[in-house]
Amino acid sequence: MTVRSLTGSFAMKALDALHSRISAPRLSEPAPDQSTLDNIYKAAFRAADHGLLRPWRFLVIRGDSRNQLGELFLKASLEQDPEIPDEKQASIRNKPLRAPLILVSISSLKEHPKVPQFEQDLSAAAASQNMLVAAHAQGVGAMWRTGSMAYHPLVMKGLGLTESEKIIGFLYLGTIAGPLKTLSEPNIDDYFKEW
Ligand SMILES: Cc1cc2nc3c(=O)[nH]c(=O)nc-3n(C[C@H](O)[C@H](O)[C@H](O)COP(=O)(O)O)c2cc1C
Repeated sequence: MTVRSLTGSFAMKALDALHSRISAPRLSEPAPDQSTLDNIYKAAFRAADHGLLRPWRFLVIRGDSRNQLGELFLKASLEQDPEIPDEKQASIRNKPLRAPLILVSISSLKEHPKVPQFEQDLSAAAASQNMLVAAHAQGVGAMWRTGSMAYHPLVMKGLGLTESEKIIGFLYLGTIAGPLKTLSEPNIDDYFKEW
């Protein structure tokens, strides 16, 4: 697709998606099919990216791999607090089961003389946001989550991150399974001022 091939109606759809994206905290099976996922993956590559470094990579976690991620979350949590009650342990273990598919969005530093790590993290975040919008545009529910598990060394190691990588977010994806919030309507003028 070239930029020229984007028609007016396509642009309107893009604006509709951008203006209406909302998180879907309650998700169920099925996960998006492969062609829907491919559209989501492709959107990551349209993120603003200084030096075109593509300073990101993504892990796709679905099916039984979610249970393994749950075990990793529990191991990390028990390292922080070995006295976690059984009920709470079950809830930690089940966190990854809140969606049929999770994308772990990873900022993956590429050494560059002019592009500091901060900018590369921002690009990985922009790629993540693009994927949320691409999911929403296709009717797929999505939610960006982090929590302490995203920053725990055991989780990072268990997921295979290197020293120069960090978790930007867990993007939970699936079929919308509960009511969505009403879109808030901020006073946009409060955030944009002539200078
Ligand atoms: C980096 C990042 C981490 C987030 N982590 C969490 C989280 O762990 N739990 C949560 O409930 N929301 C988290 N959020 C916020 C939600 O994804 C969501 O954006 C927020 O609830 C506002 O809802 P909306 O996306 O529908 O506007 C995070 C957002 C970002 C950008």
